[in-house]
Amino acid sequence: MQKNSFHECLYLWMIFMSTIPSSAHGQNYEEAKVPEYTLPDPLVAEDGESVRTADQWFSSRRKEILELFRREVYGRIPPTTVSPQLNVTEQGTPALDGSALRRQVTIRLGEEPSSPKIDLLIYYPAHITKATPAFVGLNFIGNQSIQADPQIKLCENWTIGGEHEGVVDHRPTEASRGKKASRWPVKEIVRRGYAVATAHCGDLDPDFDDSFKNGVHALFGNPSQKNHDGDSGGTIAAWSWGLSRIMDYFEHDAKIDHRRVAVVGHSRLGKTALWTGARDPRFAAVISNNSGCGGAALSRRQFGETVEAINTNFPHWFCTNFKTYNRNESALPVDQHMLLSLIAPRPVYVASATEDLWADPQGEFLAVLAADPVYKLLGTEGFPSTTKPKPDESTQATMGYHLRTGPHDVRWYDWQQYLDFADHHFQSTDAKKKKRK
Ligand code: GCU
Repeated sequence: MQKNSFHECLYLWMIFMSTIPSSAHGQNYEEAKVPEYTLPDPLVAEDGESVRTADQWFSSRRKEILELFRREVYGRIPPTTVSPQLNVTEQGTPALDGSALRRQVTIRLGEEPSSPKIDLLIYYPAHITKATPAFVGLNFIGNQSIQADPQIKLCENWTIGGEHEGVVDHRPTEASRGKKASRWPVKEIVRRGYAVATAHCGDLDPDFDDSFKNGVHALFGNPSQKNHDGDSGGTIAAWSWGLSRIMDYFEHDAKIDHRRVAVVGHSRLGKTALWTGARDPRFAAVISNNSGCGGAALSRRQFGETVEAINTNFPHWFCTNFKTYNRNESALPVDQHMLLSLIAPRPVYVASATEDLWADPQGEFLAVLAADPVYKLLGTEGFPSTTKPKPDESTQATMGYHLRTGPHDVRWYDWQQYLDFADHHFQSTDAKKKKRK
């Protein structure tokens, strides 16, 4: 079978599998069959000492946990001397009926014309002249998919996606314009006073297992990176590294207040958003939409997608060490609540969907609760309840959670909660009042 059609089949198979609400394929979808487990305590250090102060958290425990996620789950990206070259291809053109200004910037990661490039698309609110807070997230099939706007540069890289999304043989066509617009309500986001920026994840690393021959891995000059040994960073680590390069750019963009940037992502890109917020404290808030296994869901529950399933179907996403926990979750020195705890005290929002059992909504909610003690230790409100909100109700303080009715997707309901959450944390009271009118 040709590689392209093989990956197309794999992709369609995964979509099909994620819609099956039974215990087919050996996956468990019954709460009663969740094994007994004990979560590692984020507030007990590796030497057994309890963490009782913010100082102990930041000076040692947080570092330990970050290192464990690097070594055992996502992998390391070695330091690099790459000096990104910026090319602003579009400065600021009125767009979306005049409500936004559109900017497009190419960030070339290296000095060679052939170096990998991130094509960044940004919409700023046209009615605000000073620096605004922003949402940034990677997209699945190219920037042109987020709005039916013919001026958006068409992605030329390998993408996942099929013909129904305007992607033919993994290359997006003109028909892909706006195909994911329902996931990116740009007009509403800018109306509420936020910029929104996105880039295609495949600009950083195409989403297939090719032993890291392409994408940014080639930049890191570490041979083990190519072989994906032990703790070498995989595709999620590469995507996350790219989001940090986008943040580097924001630090020089006068129209974005880089101290108020929320990193947002859906599904595999939700896993990426969480890892990015955990690693890079410059991101002021993190939003994970249906991120599931390797994202917000507790691995030890083995509900829906398991560590073995994800490492088998997507062998390139995590580091090789993570595979040693296939069917061996209890040996993990971390679980995903500790990923959320790394973001503390910055705001984090986790969203699930009722039909998205593959992503284990209950496991995502329990991870929020289990990270709450760290948020509280750091003097925040954390998560203000111990009960799970009903479907389509949002509970929010420094941590937020909702369970939207419906399938694995990003919908307007999700964005409404994210915008309210961002207003709460990023906007002054006066600005909030004006914006909601
Ligand atoms: C698959 C995969 C999930 C992932 C999802 C997505 O379903 O198993 O882990 O979150 O794809 O990215 O859409």
